[in-house]
Amino acid sequence: MDKIIVEGGNTRLQGEVVIEGAKNAVLPLLAATILPKEGQTRLRNVPILSDVYTMNNVVRGLDIDVDFDEAKNEVLVDASGNILDVAPYEYVSQMRASIVVLGPILARNGHAQVSMPGGCTIGSRPIDLHLKGLEAMGATITQTGGDITAVADRLKGTKIYMDFPSVGATQNLMMAATLADGVTVIENAAREPEIVDLALLLNKMGADIKGAGTETLTITGVESLHGAEHDVVQDRIEAGTFMVAAAMTNGDVLIKDAIWEHNRPLLAKLIEMGVEVIEEDGGIRIKANTASLKPVTVKTLPYPGFPTDMQAQFTALMAVVKGESTMVETVFENRFQHLEEMRRMGLHTEILRDTAMVHGGQKLQGAPVMSTDLRASAALILAGMVAEGTTTVGKLTHLDRGYYQFHEKLAKLGANIKRVSEA
Ligand code: EPU
Repeated sequence: MDKIIVEGGNTRLQGEVVIEGAKNAVLPLLAATILPKEGQTRLRNVPILSDVYTMNNVVRGLDIDVDFDEAKNEVLVDASGNILDVAPYEYVSQMRASIVVLGPILARNGHAQVSMPGGCTIGSRPIDLHLKGLEAMGATITQTGGDITAVADRLKGTKIYMDFPSVGATQNLMMAATLADGVTVIENAAREPEIVDLALLLNKMGADIKGAGTETLTITGVESLHGAEHDVVQDRIEAGTFMVAAAMTNGDVLIKDAIWEHNRPLLAKLIEMGVEVIEEDGGIRIKANTASLKPVTVKTLPYPGFPTDMQAQFTALMAVVKGESTMVETVFENRFQHLEEMRRMGLHTEILRDTAMVHGGQKLQGAPVMSTDLRASAALILAGMVAEGTTTVGKLTHLDRGYYQFHEKLAKLGANIKRVSEA
């Protein structure tokens, strides 16, 4: 088991950082590669992350050729010929996001079996919206022995209103609808940039999807799809994490090629706090005099609201800003566990249901802490950079799911940070 060791106190991040392709875009893109009966699909700008290896294995388990050329950040998939329709438990159980293979396998094969995703530390995360949508399209769904089985000779286009704009359900239903008979309209759809990226690839494969990025998606089913090439969109959450890291450390960091539009809710809050946000040709520069920043109130929401995936990192920033900040988490019901760990570092915080009050400005003290999920691990490392003394962050399997060379990138910007292997 590896640990990250951060010597904090007077870190000032400076320089430039390169951002990878988005984890939350590439996972559904890989699921989409199941759909084409003809041709190969080439994904470029693929990040080297453990979740990508897991999804590659899920797709391979369907008897599909998947070749990951890490040196080029490219994945080449050949799903031509017959494919299997059972997603293997061994890999599905490792990653909740693998549920997005259900729609593509069903649409392509008329039958799909996927293990029910297990529990999750950040919330209960049901998949009722995925299943209800597929049922509305004519699928018969049964759940036995921990497996979900979906059957439909050919799905039928229909109108689906989603109670909540779930990212995964929108992706699953959008992929399923590409091969359905007739027109599917998904109302109250998720609008995240990762949905737009998926629609872009599917349309390149021959699908007919309109409205991606708005709350109404219209998908006209086609007979078959073919392979395509696509560059994975930049990871707005990795970019946002480095923006926050710069703001916390009196920093001056250029986030290369960062996309303003995708980080608008985060940038608005940084500006409200007093952080200097400069749009440059090469990206977005974040400059801050941390001591002069002002506390803010933030509420997480589906896109284009403030992303829940930036909540943990942003609370680490709130911790160093003098005064009372408030964070309201409305997307997941149990996503404040990093604050319990930060309490061990001397953070003053009160949590009442979905709201955390952060009394910022008191010096944090280095301590051994454990990551509880992916974004919590990033938040604890950021907190370690500003804490007096040594912070060790354990359970890095979470970090490796979503950040490529996180400590190397921070070290290059000036952090005193290393990763060590524990016996
Ligand atoms: N929900 C339901 N029923 C459903 C689906 C979702 O009640 O059928 C609820 C969930 O329980 C949750 C909320 O809706 O409370 C949002 O869930 P959503 O389905 O939108 O999330 P997801 O697709 O499971 C993706 C990202 C998450 C990110 C969320 C929200 C991927 C692979 N994962 O999850 O990313 O937090 O959207 O933006 O895209 C992360 O990267 O750290 C991460 C957790």
